[in-house]
Amino acid sequence: MPTQQQVETIEEFRDMPKEFQDAVRKIVVSHAVNELYGAQVFDEPAIALAPDPYAKWLTCRVAMEEYGHHVRFKELGTELGVEPKAMTPENKTPLSIFEFPLRSWTEFCVIKLLADLGEILQVEDLIQCSFHPLRNLARMTMPEERFHAQFGKDFCMDLCSTETGRQGVQDAIDRYFPILPAFFGKSKSQNNEIFRKWGIKQRRNEEMREDYLIQARKVVEGLGLHLPTL
Ligand SMILES: [Fe+2]
Ligand SMILES: [Fe+2]
Repeated sequence: MPTQQQVETIEEFRDMPKEFQDAVRKIVVSHAVNELYGAQVFDEPAIALAPDPYAKWLTCRVAMEEYGHHVRFKELGTELGVEPKAMTPENKTPLSIFEFPLRSWTEFCVIKLLADLGEILQVEDLIQCSFHPLRNLARMTMPEERFHAQFGKDFCMDLCSTETGRQGVQDAIDRYFPILPAFFGKSKSQNNEIFRKWGIKQRRNEEMREDYLIQARKVVEGLGLHLPTL
């Protein structure tokens, strides 16, 4: 039976059953770890790959915001009683989408185009979260994630203006896209069932994945390119 009790403050959180507390901590830790790791392996190195001062400037902004997401999630985690060292990639394995070895500016633009679109869906789901401090954090993060996905789209569009550039973007999509569906977690996930039971998350992993595949296809076809068959 779904319980949609609203938990508005950290004090109220402390009076909630352990299952609710553990579920919220799990999500906050996962965001704290993955935002940091993504910034370390993709966004910060991409500043050096960016082709001109304008692209470097915007990439610095993206890196600053991704580190900022880590800082905010880590602060919330600390308030919820999570040990700071549990919120670093050394102590919790980051998601597989970060295993892609970043080598080129084109790859980075494709990562922003496709991975940040996935991030938008995840953050969007938390905007209705029954734990309000997490809901508020999602609301603050959302415009920045939208900017990252738009950044990816704009630079991919620029790259696609030449035939060589277009082929490079398609090649990066072909190599990066196959690891993205796993970003939404397992189908029939028990964790997800608990998140939904408490109104922390709204949608099943498989629903989000399906929605993502539709949106990713739309954005890639909008560039005149195609998604590889999985
Ligand atoms: Fe982020
Ligand atoms: Fe982002």
